[in-house]
Parts: sequence; structure tokens; C-alpha cells
Amino acid sequence: MRLRGRIAYKCLTLIVVAVIILLVCIDYFAPNAKRDEFLTHLPPLERDVSQEQTAPQNIETDSKLSRLVNLTDFKYEIPNNVCRKNDKGLLAIIIVTSYAGHDELRAAHRLAAPQSKLAEMGMQRIFLLAALPTKEKYITQKQVLDEQQRFGDILQGNFQEAYRNLSYKHVMGLRWAATDCPNAKFIIKIDDDIIYDVFHFRRYLESLEVQQPTLIASQAYLAGYVLNARPPVRNVANKWFVSEHEWPRTTYPAYLSGWLYITNPATALRLVEQAQQTPFFWIDDTWVTGILREKLNISMQHLNAWYSANAEFMDCCVRDLKSQSSYECEYFVGPNGGDNKMLVEFLHNVEKCYFDECSKRPPEKSLKKTCVGSAKHLLPDHGSGQVKQVAL
Ligand SMILES: *[C@@H]1O[C@H](CO)[C@@H](O)[C@H](O)[C@H]1NC(C)=O
Ligand SMILES: *[C@@H]1O[C@H](CO)[C@@H](O)[C@H](O)[C@H]1NC(C)=O
Ligand SMILES: *[C@@H]1O[C@H](CO)[C@@H](O)[C@H](O)[C@H]1NC(C)=O
Repeated sequence: MRLRGRIAYKCLTLIVVAVIILLVCIDYFAPNAKRDEFLTHLPPLERDVSQEQTAPQNIETDSKLSRLVNLTDFKYEIPNNVCRKNDKGLLAIIIVTSYAGHDELRAAHRLAAPQSKLAEMGMQRIFLLAALPTKEKYITQKQVLDEQQRFGDILQGNFQEAYRNLSYKHVMGLRWAATDCPNAKFIIKIDDDIIYDVFHFRRYLESLEVQQPTLIASQAYLAGYVLNARPPVRNVANKWFVSEHEWPRTTYPAYLSGWLYITNPATALRLVEQAQQTPFFWIDDTWVTGILREKLNISMQHLNAWYSANAEFMDCCVRDLKSQSSYECEYFVGPNGGDNKMLVEFLHNVEKCYFDECSKRPPEKSLKKTCVGSAKHLLPDHGSGQVKQVAL
């Protein structure tokens, strides 16, 4: 009896051990994202990509992301995890190119549409900054850190703020959106000095989500103001002067105005990858949405009718929205004309149109007919956008 009992006990032990070994083996060889070879070897910046089922996954890409374009010592001076806190997933992440010294413009964006209000619309916003140049007298890094402490909406790279470094900033923003915000369906890239109707873009993207759901995962989605065959500025006195050495061709490939364009994380990742393999060009929107895009053969969706390059039109829109008739604005994107507060006025007044409290603008009341400055034909482009606005 005792002997049988012992044999049974030994058999039971063996079976238990065998089952444990089997379970361990099954677990080890099972296809498990967390154990995926390349995901465990991602550089720290991309550490959480494994948790995002929609993350575009590409071994080649991820190993190259430890540098930014040709900056080998790139890192975030101020990182940002705003998307990780929104695990529900976002309709859109808004990335705003902002000069570090433009704290007043950032304040206007926050006043016009606070992060909490954007969250209600399924959106979040971050500002893309670079390191302060030594000659910067107006703002200190401590102030930038305080701003981050208070608002949590800053992403700062360790390269220096400079016009000629804008392409780094642009690629940094796309890279962050693609790797740290892959649960956002769309990316809206804007400049800090433009006016844009965030309610319109929310409605538009929601309609795309329903009507063209495949766009969200598309690796070739770019939409905005298409600038076709623009020539480089060859006037040495112009701030946007480009030498023949920098760009020998007489025109640029078609590109999107950097004022505002829409893309998605999957497309952004391809642009970032392409940026690592393409000679650097300092005009950021031309490089990213023109030169890099052309190499990837991505076509662009034309939203040109939504843009005005005339700051006075945006001003007149605010005036008309405030008036008894509450006419809708004809444009959704335009320059602020140097008025930092205009975005606040515009968004606070245009919101009611999304509660059906505005009326259609009759043709005879078009901005071209009723607003000063109607004779100007400006493009949202470098050079042409820089033209001094002269009152008629
Ligand atoms: C990156 O490329 C640009 C343009 O070719 C060049 O001016 C710059 O010195 C390079 N930077 C580094 C760190 O190699
Ligand atoms: C761009 O950033 C790099 C890296 O911080 C810096 O060395 C360079 O001077 C900056 N370019 C300009 C034009 O300031
Ligand atoms: C680029 O895309 C177009 C369609 O969008 C296609 O007809 C063409 O063959 C593509 N070219 C290359 C080089 O892949």
C-alpha cells in the first residue's frame, strides 16, 4: 500500500513537472508582441511602441530612429507623453512648430482652445521647440520648463532654434507623432502664427473616419494647400534665399504649405525614414512634403479652397461673425498678420457656427467684395507669405 502510494506520488510529481515545462515552452515560442525580437531592442525613445496595435512596425526604421536626420546626438530636452495618457486613442494630434521665444503665441493657442477642450473633441496639441540659442535674451530655459510644468504640452529637441534648423524640428514632430502617438488617427501639423478653425478640422476628420476609414492606416495620406512647381527664391536679400548649390532645379516638387497640413502616423513614419536617407534641405515644408514625399511617390489631397493668405480676411471674418448676421467665414486657415490674439478672437467667435448659429454668406457679401485688401493675391508660401501687408 505504502509502495503504491509512493509510486503514485512520484508519477504525479513527474506529470506536474512535465506540464510546467510544457507551459513554459508554449509561452516561450508563442507569437507574443512583448517578446518580439526587435521590439525588445528598441531604443528608449520608442519603448512603448509594443503596446500600440496600430504602430507601423519596421525593423529597419526603428534601428535608425536613434538619430534625427544627420544629428547623431539627438535627444529630447523636454519629452512629452501626452498621448500615452490618452489611451482611448485620439482623432488627431496637433503638432505646432513654435519658436521657443514665442511664449505669447503659445498662450494664445491655449486660450483659444485649451487642452481640456481639445480633449473633448478627441484632440491634443503639443508645441515643437528647439534649444534656446545663446543670444536669446527674451526667454530662459527655466521659463520653458515652467511652461511645461504648468501645461505639459511642450516637446523640445536638443538642436538649436534657427531658421535653418526648422527641418529638424519638423521631422522631430512627425517622428514623435508616429512613435509616441501612434494611436492618433490623424496628425495636424501647423505653424504657431496661423489662424485655423479647429472645429472645422474636427468635423472634417470625423467625416473622413466614417467615409474613408482606410485613410487612417494608409501609408500615403497627405492633405493641405498644394503649392505646385514653386521656384526657389533666388534673391540674395530675401530671408528665404536658396542658392543653386542648395537646390539646382528651377522649381521644387509640389509640396504642402507648412501653415497647416494633415497626415497620419503611418505616413509620418515613412517621411521620417526617408529623411534619414535624403540630403538635408533647410526649408522644412518643401523638404518634408515636397522632396521627401516625391521620393515616396505619395500624392496629395488638395484643400486649397480652405486657405487664405490674407490676414485681413481673417480679421473681417471675426467682424462678420460678431455682427448680427453672423456670416460663416469662407476660409478655415490663414495668417494672423502679426496679431497674437487673433486666434483667440477667431476661435471664440467661430465656434457658434458649429451649433448652427451662423448664416450662409451670400455671394455679394463675399470677403473679396467686402473686405479691404481684396486686391492681394498671396500664396501660403515662403516669400509670398512674407510680403508686407499694405493697406489699400
Ligand atoms: C547635417 O547636414 C547639414 C546639411 O548638409 C550640414 O550643414 C550639417 O553640418 C550636418 N550636421 C551634422 C551633425 O552632420
Ligand atoms: C542647428 O543646430 C545645430 C545642433 O544644435 C547647431 O550646431 C547649429 O548651429 C544650428 N544651426 C544654426 C544655423 O544655428
Ligand atoms: C506613383 O504613383 C502613381 C499613382 O499614384 C503610379 O501611377 C506610379 O506608377 C507610381 N510611380 C512609382 C515610381 O512608383
